[in-house]
This record gives sequence, C-alpha cells and structure tokens, in this order.
Amino acid sequence: MQLSAHMSVTIKTPQEIEKMRIAGRLTSEVLDYIDPFVIAGVSTNELDRLCHDLIVNVQKGIPAPLNYAPQGHTPYPKSICTSINHQVCHGVPSEKLLKNGDIVNLDITVIMDGYHGDSSRMFYVGEPSIQARRLCEITWQSLWRGIRVVKPGAYLGDIGHAIQSFVEPLGYSVVREFCGHGIGTKFHEAPQVLHYGRPKTGLRLEAGMTFTIEPMINAGKAAIKNLGDGWTVVTKDHSLSAQYEHTLLVTQTGFEVLTVSEGCPPPPKP
Ligand code: MF3
Ligand code: CO
Ligand code: CO
Repeated sequence: MQLSAHMSVTIKTPQEIEKMRIAGRLTSEVLDYIDPFVIAGVSTNELDRLCHDLIVNVQKGIPAPLNYAPQGHTPYPKSICTSINHQVCHGVPSEKLLKNGDIVNLDITVIMDGYHGDSSRMFYVGEPSIQARRLCEITWQSLWRGIRVVKPGAYLGDIGHAIQSFVEPLGYSVVREFCGHGIGTKFHEAPQVLHYGRPKTGLRLEAGMTFTIEPMINAGKAAIKNLGDGWTVVTKDHSLSAQYEHTLLVTQTGFEVLTVSEGCPPPPKP
C-alpha cells in the first residue's frame, strides 16, 4: 500500500500492545485452523468462507480485507487473500480449485477491539516441486533474517538489507512495489518497511513500534504486473512467488512476534 509521507510512526502504549497481542494471536489461529482444508480440489472461495466464518462467528472479530478500499482501489471483495503460484499477493478468492503441486499464500488480517493482526504463510497443496518448496523455505528464512534485526536503534534499512542480501545470491529476487507497514488501529500506517535496502539508512526503530515484515520473493525476475481485477498481482515473467508475514513489536531489548499461536511454524535455525 502507498502511505503518505506526512504520517508519523505511532508508539503503542502497554494497553495497546496487549490488544495487538490478542489480534495477532487470533490472526495466527486462523492460519492454524485453515491448514487442513488447503488440499487439492478445494476452491479458494471455500477457504475464504471458512476463514470468514471462524473470524466472525467464533472469534467475534472483523476480517480487515473485506471491503477494504485504500486510495486508487475498488473495495476488496473477500475476507482473505489467496495467492497461488505466480500470484505475488492480493489474490482474490474465486471458484478456482487448488490442484496438486500448487503453492498458495493465505494472508489473514483480523481486527479485534479496534486493533489489527496481519500474518501470512505458504501452504503446499499435495506435493509441490522441489523448486517450489525451496522458494517457500528461503522466503520463510528471509522473513526471519529481517525479524532478527529488529531492536531499538536498528534502522529500517538494516531489515531490508538482511532480506535482500540473503535471497539475491541464491538467485531469487525481491518484489519492490509492496512492503511491510506500520499497523495498529489502522491496517496500513507508517512506516513503510521495504524488503531491500542499505544498512544504516532510513528510520531508526524505537520500543513500542508495531509493524509487519512480509517479503515477497520471486523465483525469477522482480517485475510484477496487476491483473484486470484491480487487486491480484502476478510476476511479469510468470515465475513462482512466495511470501510470509508476521506482525512485530519492537521491545526494549529486541522484538516480539505478535502473530503467534500453537500451530505457527517455529523460527528457522539462525
Ligand atoms: N494483508 C495484506 C498486507 O499484508 C493487505 C491486503 S489488502 C486487501 O498488507 F485488501 F487485499 F486485503
Ligand atoms: Co501486511
Ligand atoms: Co497481510
């Protein structure tokens, strides 16, 4: 999302942080819940319906994507994003069925008590190719390369650099047009968290900041294009793309991952 430059970065109070923890946990629990349903033959509309019903009827939360309409966009028509194979992000659920070998990103954002949690994971449909699984694993590791940088005094550019300098030597590329973002009472707020950059550049982190890191990594070239539906983003060269996302808090000593739950994948070995 594009954010206006004049918006300033909010520092969350302990009370707000507690609400962010709750929203983050609920978000991660939606991803845990949907995992067994991500199989060949299911439609992405069905995954959307299952997540919507869990969020609304069980969690008593709000699915933030539904009717979300940032400037220049038509309102988003569904409750989750489902991005398959060469789709980079913001894939819109449809009657299309998942098939054996697909990799799919499910991106969930839950609002609870006015605060947002935002997280996404890759899911394997049956047995994806070795190349597809490697792309997902490297993308997961790249997210954690970025997360491990987070502490007061670190620069946003350090996060981007950690991700970029990890994936590019492996032959992958970083999507430039989309970034992580501040989050709280707003879905997307300042700062923009780029997934590429130079060390010791950009904003310095302070305790109490909350933002996402959500690298989109392509197996081929970095270039993307928009599909005609106004939302879905795909790789221009139709290469596979993967993404993982966590919502983070900057603590006094480092970071806390807010989008955690029983089933969330454990951090990779450093
Ligand atoms: N969840 C996405 C993100 O990580 C944003 C999706 S916007 C939507 O920032 F409208 F497509 F849902
Ligand atoms: Co996000
Ligand atoms: Co998201």
